[in-house]
Amino acid sequence: MIKEQKRNPFISNTFKLWMVAVIFLLTFFQLYSINRYPHADIVSDEIVLGVVLILLGYLWIQELRDRYRLQAVNMALIKAQGQLERAEIDTIATLILTEEAKDPYMRGHSKRVTRCAVELARELGLSEKECKTIERAGILHDIGKIGISDLILHKPGRLNEEEWVVIKKHPRRAIEILEPLRFLTKEKEIICHHHERFDGKGYPDGSKGEEIPLGARIMSIADTFDAMNSERSYRKPLPEEVIISELKNASGNQLDSRIVTTFLKLLTKKPSLWEREG
Ligand SMILES: [Fe+2]
Repeated sequence: MIKEQKRNPFISNTFKLWMVAVIFLLTFFQLYSINRYPHADIVSDEIVLGVVLILLGYLWIQELRDRYRLQAVNMALIKAQGQLERAEIDTIATLILTEEAKDPYMRGHSKRVTRCAVELARELGLSEKECKTIERAGILHDIGKIGISDLILHKPGRLNEEEWVVIKKHPRRAIEILEPLRFLTKEKEIICHHHERFDGKGYPDGSKGEEIPLGARIMSIADTFDAMNSERSYRKPLPEEVIISELKNASGNQLDSRIVTTFLKLLTKKPSLWEREG
């Protein structure tokens, strides 16, 4: 088997040091000979200067080439890291979508919540980077429900108090599941607080007002909207006018009123947000 020889694209530091040493020796030798034998022209100054300039020029070009290659390697590494992160998120997202697919009432929930939350974030003037964070948080927001018994998750009817206690653990459980993905710091904040209420009566921390991260306040509206706009085992999707009226009622207590106002305008501007296909 022929072994592929991998060439280092950069010139080594040892080689650079040797070049500097040669330049130094040439210069030293020339200065020494001028001092020692002022009338003898052993090697003409022009030749020494020429050689030194060529060597310096060569070193400079190599240095520039190395710097350019280093930048290219860095860019490739950043790209590879992005692809790796994307792959990790996609793997987890597949888990969620598989989990949702088992329940006809929850099918497509994460995708719809993500779509609403991202559109709302854009409408509020958030940057593309912040919208991307919200998109990732939206897809992963209910990951903490993985592991909760299907008897509770798919219960045909309203949950009792003990079952609610289990359900309310899902934001914290999500943080535990996502713990190894350290690059999702902001997404984890949003996921952890997407069930907080603006009046402080939500969970898991009971944070209120602007203590709740903006992304989580946006997610909360998208999540609430999708819950009302989707069919449940015990009811049909609520009529549009009822949903709008419920959003207005929740404004200022459960939901951030400023964001609700923007969301209501957005629903008129983008009627596709009412669509239920996941
Ligand atoms: Fe949730």
